[in-house]
Amino acid sequence: MTKKTVRDIDLKGKRVLMRVDFNVPVEDKVVKDDTRIAAALPTIQYVLEQGASVILMSHFGRPKDGPDPKYSLKPVAVRLAELLGKPVKMAPDVVGDEVEAMAKALQPGDVMLLENTRFYPGETKNAPDFVDKLAVLGDVYVNDAFGSAHRAHASTVGVAERMPAVAGFLIEKEITFLGKATGDAERPYVVILGGAKVSDKILVIENMLAKADTILIGGGMANTFLKAQGLEMGDSLVEDDVLDTAKALMAKAEGKLVLPVDAVVANAFDNDAIQKVVNVAAVSPGWRILDIGPKTVELYKSKLADARTVVWNGPMGVFEMPNFAKGTFAIAEALATLDAVTIIGGGDSAAAVNQAGVADKVSHVSTGGGASLEFLEGKVLPGVAALNDL
Ligand code: 3PG
Repeated sequence: MTKKTVRDIDLKGKRVLMRVDFNVPVEDKVVKDDTRIAAALPTIQYVLEQGASVILMSHFGRPKDGPDPKYSLKPVAVRLAELLGKPVKMAPDVVGDEVEAMAKALQPGDVMLLENTRFYPGETKNAPDFVDKLAVLGDVYVNDAFGSAHRAHASTVGVAERMPAVAGFLIEKEITFLGKATGDAERPYVVILGGAKVSDKILVIENMLAKADTILIGGGMANTFLKAQGLEMGDSLVEDDVLDTAKALMAKAEGKLVLPVDAVVANAFDNDAIQKVVNVAAVSPGWRILDIGPKTVELYKSKLADARTVVWNGPMGVFEMPNFAKGTFAIAEALATLDAVTIIGGGDSAAAVNQAGVADKVSHVSTGGGASLEFLEGKVLPGVAALNDL
């Protein structure tokens, strides 16, 4: 990585303003998945060990009208304190006199969490007056919020421009792994792309066509490609408005794009619908594709067998419904057995490897959904670009 990290800066006695991504699932004021909190711990602990205090900031959800208890980070402070094994001071606000006084009173080793940065509209607008108020809280800025690095907000970009700004270990790790996917990947290099829509993945497909040897397509987006080849898709989800784009991508792909050969179809979008396996050329009206079929799983496994680098982004079917999760889980399990660098884009594919119980058998599971997608598209992430160069 070409950016400075926490290792490249003197932290002793400093107040470190650290952006983390604590946008985690919370239900009834309890954190339901602490993966992103746990992923920030190594940097928090390192900074504390260097004799600094830490002021953590994060967004949580998308509150629209200022402070809203529903979007408070308090449940996160509770879980963070448990994971760190030390108290976390929960700030009553994001900025302002009281928060400033709390920040000034911090001693080396202390941890404070600000309220949800999106309680202020200046956050998403990267408004200079809001940046000023955040910037007075710390001496040094650390960004470890990979999941938010695609956002050019006050806490991800604005403050980085006001003080020494370096990356944390999570950002460093994400860039190192995802960089293998967009840089000189060891070959054969296979990319697996799924999810509902081609329109969400056009830029990734274009970027990956230039880098990968093979792109395996699954999920709802495969239907659009199959229809673009002239096949009937029955009641399956198809994006008719991008059929021409799909055709153009296939023409450009020169055989690199591999599509499903069979599918699990159902007579309704329901876990308990009647289902059967059919050839992709035999999807009748009244039936919709909800998963890849067993022959496709075998075909994709054979394409993966000798891969040295694999990137996976997007499920192969509607895996939230257990009866249509087989294809997605089979791919997750296949990745776990490979002798390859295996990189899982965040969001649904990360959830799939977790549910399949193979997260510890792949090389890297990204904590960024939108951020990892934009990275794979070849875009520069503003939250990373804003950090000091080595
Ligand atoms: C995410 O969950 O992908 C990140 O935290 C970014 O959230 P956002 O899409 O609301 O900016």
